[in-house]
Amino acid sequence: MSRTLLVTGGAGFIGTNFVRYWMENYPDDRIVVLDALTYAGNPANMEELRNDSRFRFYPGRIEDFTVVEGIFRWERISHVLNFAAESHNDRSLMDPTGLISSNVTGVSILLECSRKYGAERMLHVSTDEVYGEIESGLFRETDPLEPRTPYSAGKASGELQVRAHQIAYGTKSLVTRGSNTFGPFQFPEKILPFFITRAMQDKMLPLYGDGNQVRDWIFVRDHCSGIATALLKGEIGQVYNVGGGNERPNIEVTKMVLQALSKPETLIKRIPDPRGASHDKRYALNTEKIEKLGWKPSATFEEALGKTVQWYVDHRFWWEEIVNSTRYRQFVKAFYGPYLGEDL
Ligand code: TYD
Repeated sequence: MSRTLLVTGGAGFIGTNFVRYWMENYPDDRIVVLDALTYAGNPANMEELRNDSRFRFYPGRIEDFTVVEGIFRWERISHVLNFAAESHNDRSLMDPTGLISSNVTGVSILLECSRKYGAERMLHVSTDEVYGEIESGLFRETDPLEPRTPYSAGKASGELQVRAHQIAYGTKSLVTRGSNTFGPFQFPEKILPFFITRAMQDKMLPLYGDGNQVRDWIFVRDHCSGIATALLKGEIGQVYNVGGGNERPNIEVTKMVLQALSKPETLIKRIPDPRGASHDKRYALNTEKIEKLGWKPSATFEEALGKTVQWYVDHRFWWEEIVNSTRYRQFVKAFYGPYLGEDL
C-alpha cells in the first residue's frame, strides 16, 4: 500500500532533505509539503521537485487549523512528519514569544487533525535541546526535560502536547530527538553554514565565548534515515534519540571549516557569549534505543563536513541570494553588529 506523507516544514533544512530521502527510497509514495515559507523555508529548495507528480506543495502555517484540516480532507494523509519549527536559539532569545505558535499551537493542531482523520502515524521531530545541558555522560529518552532557552522550552512544550494527545486520545504519535544537524540546504544562521559561507567571503567568524561548548553532530542524511526508521518501525507513544555520536567543541568545528576551505585561523573572532547563562555547554545522546530498530549513522564527521563544505562551494547561487538579501543583512547586523563592526 502506498502512503501519502504530510511533511510540514518541507521547504526548510531537514524537511527538504527528508523529502528527497523519502522519494528516493520509497518511490511509490506521495509527499505533500506544507510550509509557511518564513525566512528559513525557501521555495528554491523545492524547485527541482515541482514537476514530480508524486509531490505537492501548499504554502501555509501549521498553526492555521483551516489550512491543515483542508489538507487532511483533500489529500488523505496517512503519515504526518512535523519538521515545521522556529528553530534558532539566538532568535528565540531576542523574541521569546514568537516561537510559541508554531512550536506549540501548530503541533497541537497537527495532532488533532491526525486523530480526526485517522492518520496511521504522526511523527514529531524534536531536538536533544529539550534535555538541557549535560556535563558528562549521555542523555537517555527517559531523562527529564530541562530546557534552558525559549526555543528548547517551546520544543519541549510541543513534545508534551504529543505525549498528552497520545495518552488522552490514542493518537498514533511518536517523537524523535535529533542532535545538531548539518548538511546541504541549511540556512546560514546555524554555526556551520554561517561559518562556511562567511569564510568563503573572507569574513570574520564570530565564535561565542571560549568556544569550548560541545555539540553532538549528525549529518542530515543520517538524521533523515533515523526519522524514517522511527516512523516505520518505532513504537507508538515512544521517544527516540537520533544522535550522530560525533562530539566536537565549537572551536574544533570552526578550525575544520577553515581548513576545508584553506582559509586562515585569523578569521576566528572570539566574541562575548550573547547567550549568557542559557548557553548549553554540552549535548550528547545515547542512541541504543533507535539502534535496536536497526538504525545506525553511516557518515563520519570528517566525511560529512567535507560533503557539506563542497555543497556550499557548488551552490554559491543558493546562499548568495540569501546572504545578499536585506532581511538577512538586517539579521546579521542586529545580532553581530556590536561585535563585528563593519565586517558584517
Ligand atoms: P547553533 O548552530 O545555533 O545550534 P544550537 O544552538 O542549536 O546548538 O550553535 C551551535 C553552537 O555554536 C552553539 O554552542 C553556539 C555556537 N555559535 C557560535 O559560537 N557562533 C555563532 O555565530 C553561532 C551561530 C553559533
